[in-house]
Amino acid sequence: MVIGVLKEIKPNEYRVAAIPATVKEIVAHGHTVYVQSGAGVGSGYSDEDYEAAGAIVADKDTVWEKSQLYYKVKEFFPEEFKWIQEDKIIFTYIHSNAHPAETDVLLDSKCTAIAYEDIPDKNGKFPLLRPMSEIAGKGGFIAALNFMQTIHGGPGKLLCNVAGVPSPIVTCLGCGNIGTAIAELASSWGLDVRILDINIDVMLEAKKHLPNVQFMFSNRENLERCLKETDVLFNGTQWAKERTDHIVYREDVRLMKKGSMIVDVACDDHGAIETTESTTHTDPIYFEEGIMHYCVDNIPSAFAQTASVTLANATLPMLLAIADKGVKKAIEDDQYLRAGLTCWGGYLTLKETALKQNRPWTDANELIKTW
Ligand SMILES: NC(=O)c1ccc[n+]([C@@H]2O[C@H](COP(=O)([O-])OP(=O)(O)OC[C@H]3O[C@@H](n4cnc5c(N)ncnc54)[C@H](O)[C@@H]3O)[C@@H](O)[C@H]2O)c1
Repeated sequence: MVIGVLKEIKPNEYRVAAIPATVKEIVAHGHTVYVQSGAGVGSGYSDEDYEAAGAIVADKDTVWEKSQLYYKVKEFFPEEFKWIQEDKIIFTYIHSNAHPAETDVLLDSKCTAIAYEDIPDKNGKFPLLRPMSEIAGKGGFIAALNFMQTIHGGPGKLLCNVAGVPSPIVTCLGCGNIGTAIAELASSWGLDVRILDINIDVMLEAKKHLPNVQFMFSNRENLERCLKETDVLFNGTQWAKERTDHIVYREDVRLMKKGSMIVDVACDDHGAIETTESTTHTDPIYFEEGIMHYCVDNIPSAFAQTASVTLANATLPMLLAIADKGVKKAIEDDQYLRAGLTCWGGYLTLKETALKQNRPWTDANELIKTW
């Protein structure tokens, strides 16, 4: 198969879908890899690094034209739409539910599109989301360290255990990949760390690895107590896009003490935290109710090399299955890959997008019987 690794065009997006080490593996399987010139620069990889790994480095148009499979990180933008055609396979974070114009193009073109974010594993977890959540959680903690500094508009609090000074308090909403990644760093820096979740099983599991963290049920009483005491409130909850309620309402933000901040890593606009509006790396913070908010929606991009290494390695087995077997056989053989199928031949197979955008849905399990 001919695979095209494209340079991301989203502002401040520096990740790349394949790194030289994974290109080497793909080429060793007998496939051809085109890499758009400069695609890896933001992650620390030069065109020469890719050539040494066996890729053909080419200009943008050549990569789009020659490739059977587009291997990317982010969703497609309007200037890329013209390249999405019936015979093309798309493998990236698609987020079709949030991008109706992209969904139109995917369906009208009759291409085959598989979304990283919708591929589960046998435990119902999402293995291609997990690595980014860990980086986002850890990156969110580093953002808090940064923005608590006086020189960055914060209260001048060093988020660690300094002799003679009470340890700062941090609270994480959610005990998933993000919450545990934050807690791992925050507790090793000697902070007073609290995690609130609604799922006792995930808290019991996390407690084994994080003995110095307090785990609490996410309810109003615990939330209000933590909000009044915390220096940094992190959000790492999974919040359904259609929900209109919140965990932290605007009036709750008023309970927070002066100089405290919110780092919304999960970052759903007006989602679990009512006052959240996603921001960018170039303009990452704003104040609401006197409380600094950091709500960057692509934190991992700031750690592009680490993120690219972990993402490229996580997607490689699936990419190889598609390339080695052909996309239809790979989807037939692997129920988890099939769950990530967004669309095929003009049929929308991702239920979430069908519901959200009021479009007809086709069950991928039934669809493959018609092939
Ligand atoms: N900003 C970024 O750059 C970035 C990067 C990666 C992921 N994310 C987003 O972050 C979110 C969380 O990711 P994750 O991998 O940690 O998810 P996860 O599924 O591992 O964890 C979410 C946790 O939230 C808990 N939760 C649900 N409702 C709750 C409530 N009312 N109170 C407290 N906890 C509650 C769940 O029980 C679960 O343990 C996702 O929406 C993801 O898309 C953002």
